[in-house]
Amino acid sequence: MLDKLGWRKTDKQNATLEDRMQKLDPNSVPQHIAIIMDGNGRWAQKRALPRVAGHHEGMKNVRTITRCANKIGVRVLTLYAFSTENWKRPRKEVEFLMRLPEEFLTSFLPELMELNIRVSLIGEMDSLPGHTQKAIQNAMDTTKDNTGMVLNFAMNYGSRREVVLSVKEIVAQVQNGTLSLDDISEETISSNLMTAALPDPDLLIRTSGELRLSNFLLWQLAYSEFWFTDVHWPEFSEGNLLEAVESYQSRNRRYGGLKGE
Ligand code: FPP
Repeated sequence: MLDKLGWRKTDKQNATLEDRMQKLDPNSVPQHIAIIMDGNGRWAQKRALPRVAGHHEGMKNVRTITRCANKIGVRVLTLYAFSTENWKRPRKEVEFLMRLPEEFLTSFLPELMELNIRVSLIGEMDSLPGHTQKAIQNAMDTTKDNTGMVLNFAMNYGSRREVVLSVKEIVAQVQNGTLSLDDISEETISSNLMTAALPDPDLLIRTSGELRLSNFLLWQLAYSEFWFTDVHWPEFSEGNLLEAVESYQSRNRRYGGLKGE
């Protein structure tokens, strides 16, 4: 019995990552994958380690997953690294999380350049600590002319906050006469969000067993496919990413229309 991608169950279990990558349909690789990287704390707890050890391991895993996404032809990878709600965590944990972009971007930048990957950010950068802003700005400046995959970090990001800012921006345009009320469309909203330059995600992945969106890309995920796994983020492997993409490729996206349309 073959599945929709032509895999027999035992073949798939024995296949190497390379085999599985080869077998993907290059014409339906999700162009934009968004990931809620959950479960760092639980990963650490299981090993009797402090929570921050989980965040550090999670940061290391960002490299692995970035490389793999790039290899299979993903165009945008958006990673939820810090939400507007995460400020409520203990001060020490927040401070640790705010150091991660520096460590990650400093050591990974040469490879990002080699891979032609461009770093970008959604979220309110101004409220991040100076050293975090500096690291992100430096990575964005250094990679700005890269034309390959976009590695988009959501930091100090909250979707409802993003919508509020977008509404304010649109109202200001109406008030100053550059936009008429009748011309406000879905496109007006999309183009005033922080993701204006990016396509909507095709696939949303959330790790660690939680089945919710946690204020992430609420408008942009309207037609995305969702894929959930119990695996904690630090252990989310290339194989797991391929599993999500394989599942995506076996689905029939209808955008509210009928099957096959
Ligand atoms: C949620 O797990 C995870 C976060 C709030 C932080 C995610 C950040 C990273 C994976 C590193 C980011 C890397 C860079 C380069 C910026 P949790 O702590 O809520 O886990 P728990 O639910 O098990 O406690």
